[in-house]
Amino acid sequence: MVELRDFRAADCRQLVEWIEGPAELWNWSGHHFSWPFDEGQLAEYAAESATPLRQSWMAFDPTNDHVVGHVSVRIDAANASGRLGRVLVAPEVRGKGYGAAMLTKALDAGFGDLGLEQIELGVWDDNANAIRLYEGLGFGCDRVLRDVVQFAGKSWSAMQMILPRSAWAADAASA
Ligand SMILES: CC(C)(COP(=O)(O)OP(=O)(O)OC[C@H]1O[C@@H](n2cnc3c(N)ncnc32)[C@H](O)[C@@H]1OP(=O)(O)O)[C@@H](O)C(=O)NCCC(=O)NCCS
Repeated sequence: MVELRDFRAADCRQLVEWIEGPAELWNWSGHHFSWPFDEGQLAEYAAESATPLRQSWMAFDPTNDHVVGHVSVRIDAANASGRLGRVLVAPEVRGKGYGAAMLTKALDAGFGDLGLEQIELGVWDDNANAIRLYEGLGFGCDRVLRDVVQFAGKSWSAMQMILPRSAWAADAASA
């Protein structure tokens, strides 16, 4: 249902178009980028994605070639650990299973070709859709960093989630 291809600098425009406002930008990237969002802010990210430090992908539906999402893994090779991030599904196709399919492929790559032993991520603790998506893939809550930042008049807490290779392998075996 979904295939991944490498993210390229030319895809930055698509990411900017998918981010519909400051709340969405905050959910997607925390304080890494600022509103109004533009392609220039993604230059460093695109450059890092072309190095072994980060693997970033665009997800597309092979039945019609439509690009449906984006995801990235920052790689800590010394610890065989990856940090999943920049998870985004095109607004018009959310709730159709693309997010789960895209992340399944990214995790396959992380535990497969990239040889990672664990993959972690951070998500604001009020982002129920994303947390449900991650839990469905086997991620568990490792800890919650309470009230780490103030934004838009409220205090934000970041849930840190983790998926060890053993849990992924067990899930894959039972699928
Ligand atoms: C979070 C996001 C990636 C989910 O992608 P998606 O394609 O809509 O997710 P899926 O359709 O694959 O759904 C996966 C699971 O999440 C749940 N889910 C996703 N969107 C949901 C919604 N709007 N309401 C309720 N549940 C939702 C689904 O029910 C499904 O769980 P289930 O299999 O138990 O039913 C997407 O909403 C998004 O891009 N959000 C904005 C950016 C963002 O918040 N990124 C995460 C940063 S940490």
